[in-house]
Amino acid sequence: MALFTQSVSFDWRLWEHDILGSLAHAAMLLKIGVLTKAEAREIENGLNSIAREICEGRFAWKLELEDIHMNIEAELTARAPAGAKLHTARSRNDQVALDMRMWMRDEIVDLDRELRALQEALVALGEGHAGVMMPGYTHLQRAQPVYFAHHLLAYVEMFSRDRERLLDCFRRANICPLGSGAIAGSTLPLDREMVARLLGFVDQKGRPRLTQNSMDAVGDRDFVVEFCADAALIAVHLSRLAEDWILWSTAEFGFVTLADAYTTGSSLMPQKKNPDVAELTRGKAGRVFGNLMALLTLLKGLPMAYNRDLQEDKQRLFDSADTVRAATRLMAGMVAHTTVHAEKCCAAAADPGLLATDLADFLVGEGMPFRQAHHLAGAAVGAAERMGKPLNQLTAKEWRQIDPAFGSGAPEVFDLRRAMSRRELAGAPGPRQVARQLARWRKLLAGA
Ligand code: ARG
Repeated sequence: MALFTQSVSFDWRLWEHDILGSLAHAAMLLKIGVLTKAEAREIENGLNSIAREICEGRFAWKLELEDIHMNIEAELTARAPAGAKLHTARSRNDQVALDMRMWMRDEIVDLDRELRALQEALVALGEGHAGVMMPGYTHLQRAQPVYFAHHLLAYVEMFSRDRERLLDCFRRANICPLGSGAIAGSTLPLDREMVARLLGFVDQKGRPRLTQNSMDAVGDRDFVVEFCADAALIAVHLSRLAEDWILWSTAEFGFVTLADAYTTGSSLMPQKKNPDVAELTRGKAGRVFGNLMALLTLLKGLPMAYNRDLQEDKQRLFDSADTVRAATRLMAGMVAHTTVHAEKCCAAAADPGLLATDLADFLVGEGMPFRQAHHLAGAAVGAAERMGKPLNQLTAKEWRQIDPAFGSGAPEVFDLRRAMSRRELAGAPGPRQVARQLARWRKLLAGA
C-alpha cells in the first residue's frame, strides 16, 4: 500500500516551491492572527533549515510519509511545535495545485531560454553561410533552390511559435489556487490576495490573480495538459530538425558534418560516425507525445473535484519537461558545432532542373497562359533528358525545336544568382529577403 500510493520518490522535486508556498501561507496566517509572531518565526526558521538540508542532500525522505507535503510538514512539526498550525485552512489538494503551478512557471522560463539559444544557433549558422544555396525539397525530391539560411529560418519561425505558446501557457498557470482548501475554501478569513502577491501570482499591473472556483482550482490540471501539449509540439519541431541533420550528414547528401562530440562510433564498424543526439531527439518525441495522451486519459473520467488519480500527473509533466529541455539544449549545441559543406550544397542547388518553374514563368512573362507554359517547360525537361544533357546546355536551335516560344531568351533563366534575386516577395528566399529576416531575428533575439 505504501509503495503503491507514495509519490515522494518523484514529487520531492517540488520541495522549493512547496516551502515557498508554506512561507507565504504562514506569513498570511500571522497577518490574520492565526499565528503569533513567535510561532511564525519558529515556522519560518524550521522551513529554512529544512530547505538548506534538502539543498545539501542531507534531508531524509520517508516513503511512509507518502508525499513531499507530509514529509516537510512532519519534519517541521518535529522541530517546531508551531508547525502543527501551518496546515490551518490548507489542504494538500490546494497545496499540490499551487506547487505544480509554481514549478511550471519556473520550468517555462528555463525552457524558453533554451529555445531562444537554439534559435540563436540557427540564426548564427545562417549568418555564417549567407550566400550558400541548396535545393529546397518537397516530397524529399529536389524542388526549387533556396538559401541555406532560409531553410534554417523556417525552424526559427517554428520555435518562435513554440515560445509564444509557452508564454500563453504561463499566463494561465500563473493563477493562485491556495485558499481553495480541499474543495470548498475555508471558514477562516484568509487573505488570498496577500498570498498571491507574495508568490508572484500577479498580472502585468501587479494585481493578484486568484482562481475563482474552489472546486475547479483543486481538480484542474489543464495547465499541465497545456504544457505537455506545447512540449509535444516542440518535440515535433526538434524531431524534424533532427531528421534534416541526419539526412544532410549522410554520404548521399554530404551537406554537413557533425562535431564528434554530438556523434558516437560503432562498436563493430570502425568507420562509423552516428548522429545519436539527433536520432535520440527524434526518438524521444514518442514518449513526449505519450505523456500528453496519458494526461488526457487520466483526466477524462474524473468526477469533481480532487481525486487521487491526479497524483499521476507529475511524472508525465516532469518527463516531458526534462526530455524536451535536454533535447533543445543538445540540439542547440549540435547546430552550433556543425560544419557546412558550402560547395556540396551549392553544387546540388546548381541542378538546372530546379529552375524549370522559372522557365515556365519566363513564358508567362511573354504572355503565355501558365498551364501551357508549364506544359512546354515540362517538354523541355523531357527533351533535355532524352538528349542526355542538362537543361541549361541546350543550344538556341534545340530550344527553338522544342518550341519557338522559348526564342533565345531562355538561357538567362538558368543564371542561379539572377533567379534568386527575382524571389523577393515577403517570405520568399531572395537574398534581400533572407538578409532582412536574419537581421530581424538577430534583433528580436537580442531583445528577448
Ligand atoms: N500527493 C498528492 C498528489 O500529488 C497530494 C494531494 C493528496 N491529497 C489527498 N487528499 N490525498 O496529488
